[in-house]
Amino acid sequence: MSNVILETRGLTKEFSGFTAVDSVDLQVQEGHIHALIGPNGAGKSTVFNLLTRFLPATRGAVLYQGQAIGKLAPDRIARLGLVRSFQISAVFGQMSVLENVRVALQRELGTSFHFWKPANSLDHLNQRAMHLLELVDLQDFALHKTAELPYGRKRALELATTLALEPKVMLLDEPTQGMGHEDVERVVELIRKVAVGRTVLMVEHNLRVVSSLCHRITVLARGSVLAEGDYASVSANPLVREAYMGKEAEHV
Ligand SMILES: Nc1ncnc2c1ncn2[C@@H]1O[C@H](COP(=O)(O)OP(=O)(O)O)[C@@H](O)[C@H]1O
Ligand SMILES: [Mg+2]
Repeated sequence: MSNVILETRGLTKEFSGFTAVDSVDLQVQEGHIHALIGPNGAGKSTVFNLLTRFLPATRGAVLYQGQAIGKLAPDRIARLGLVRSFQISAVFGQMSVLENVRVALQRELGTSFHFWKPANSLDHLNQRAMHLLELVDLQDFALHKTAELPYGRKRALELATTLALEPKVMLLDEPTQGMGHEDVERVVELIRKVAVGRTVLMVEHNLRVVSSLCHRITVLARGSVLAEGDYASVSANPLVREAYMGKEAEHV
């Protein structure tokens, strides 16, 4: 039997009477790339916020490696290895690509900037940062200003800064959103590569990406789980075709 690394039980979030996430039971197997799909407003991003405790749940439990994490602070959860990716903010846009990864690494090490540290520990940090940049094929951009990176490359940098936190489970919210075909291909290969030895839970609208990348798919609609299974079974489900895929169904 495979291992469930991340699980929700009856997970519910109400926003002043409106139920955005409604009794969601989710099980993510260790080592899987698991997709969370569904129409806009289905509650996907809210589920991510509940998993990482950026929002408190109204009801229900989140279990990570068998431990209830519903009362832990977000940074504590990240340190346990459940890490979501974040978009590079305007502030970080002013720094170089390499500096962004270094800052993420320093966060992981639990230290802020220590200018008095011996130079060799900074070298060590630079080496680790360069290694992460190589992993996402950004080594040639290391000294570029982040804000000037092409869009697809910025998303790759977000993956590198997420990897700096040494995640066991990575949560990716729409990693290919707004990308052209070539960038989508590159990010798919990147996710495939960094998912080795890890678990990935991703929100993704591009069904081609989902079908080529994901072992298992959960479909959310109006806050509830509508269907779950592999791509073949989910895409053949009439409820899913009606509620989610709509016009896209003919291409499935
Ligand atoms: N902070 C909030 N306050 C009130 N309503 C919210 C809040 N966040 C999300 N919602 C609502 O919850 C529903 C689910 O949103 P969201 O999780 O962002 O959906 P998805 O990511 O699937 O598009 C939407 O109807 C949205 O308007
Ligand atoms: Mg969303």
